[in-house]
Amino acid sequence: MPKKIILDVDPGIADAASIALAAYDPAVELLAVTSVGGNVPASAAAKNLQAIIEFLDPPRLPRIGMGTAPDGTLPITFRQVHGIDGLGGTPLPVAELRSQHPAEKVICDIVRSDPENVMIICMGPLTNIARAFRRDPELPKMLRHIYITGGAVNARGNISPCAEFNFYADPVSARIVWHSPCTKTLVPLDVTNKILLRLNDLEQFPDEKTKLGTLLRSMFIPAIRAYHQNYGLEGVHIHDLITYIAATHPRLFETSEMTGDVEVKGHITKGMTVFDFRRLPELSYSIDVITKIDADAVLDEIITGLNNASEQMEKRV
Ligand code: BDR
Ligand code: CA
Repeated sequence: MPKKIILDVDPGIADAASIALAAYDPAVELLAVTSVGGNVPASAAAKNLQAIIEFLDPPRLPRIGMGTAPDGTLPITFRQVHGIDGLGGTPLPVAELRSQHPAEKVICDIVRSDPENVMIICMGPLTNIARAFRRDPELPKMLRHIYITGGAVNARGNISPCAEFNFYADPVSARIVWHSPCTKTLVPLDVTNKILLRLNDLEQFPDEKTKLGTLLRSMFIPAIRAYHQNYGLEGVHIHDLITYIAATHPRLFETSEMTGDVEVKGHITKGMTVFDFRRLPELSYSIDVITKIDADAVLDEIITGLNNASEQMEKRV
């Protein structure tokens, strides 16, 4: 039985590549993709999502939901890595906005229509998920599982000294989701930092003459350059692609239950995930956290999935 999935994304380069994986993954039924503000503002994320879906043209179109900016937070983006448009400057045709359904409504409708069977993979700030939980308080218990790109256990932050970007962008929503009674797995920076996609890895991507191969190079080459300029690294992290594989190939990861919370206020620590490893922890909200990854096998799955997506896309041209 294919896994029933909703992707919540802020495209974002690895977000966009994850949509390609999911849209053509034979082991997945991609029910919906919802956009959220993060790497780029909410309106740009919505436009990118629509443009990517049109570009991928999957045989079964997922429902699309559009998010709006979170209430009461300062606007923050990650354009220093993802480029001004969020996709490394990729010239995608401007999408025609086909649907204006609010992301949280799409999430609620889909989960309610098939209780305990739908999994959400969150690749951006948790704004839409928290809104869905507020709109329908019974929803968390109806979810099969929620996977989250977010937080850091021992790793340093990637947007501030101690915070991971998705949690920093909307810590209040991150906390609401963390405290909610659903089965949830965190994929923190400690794990996603284990893979650095280098220029020579792109040789294993779909051929550069294919539609998807062209798109991927046009996003990842500028990102690799930006990583070098910003962090002095010789490759780019692909956090969200790793979260996708964690949800679809959990055997390639090890998980441990931890207790902790999200700092929502701190001047310097806003968005930081704080874990309590004492025997009698006071921070009692528990969450499964991925602690180990078979990095080579995960990268292989990503490359295989992208090549499969590309082959199917070429047949449709
Ligand atoms: C997250 O930050 C974003 O830039 C990426 O898209 C990913 O979701 C990792 O911290
Ligand atoms: Ca993302």
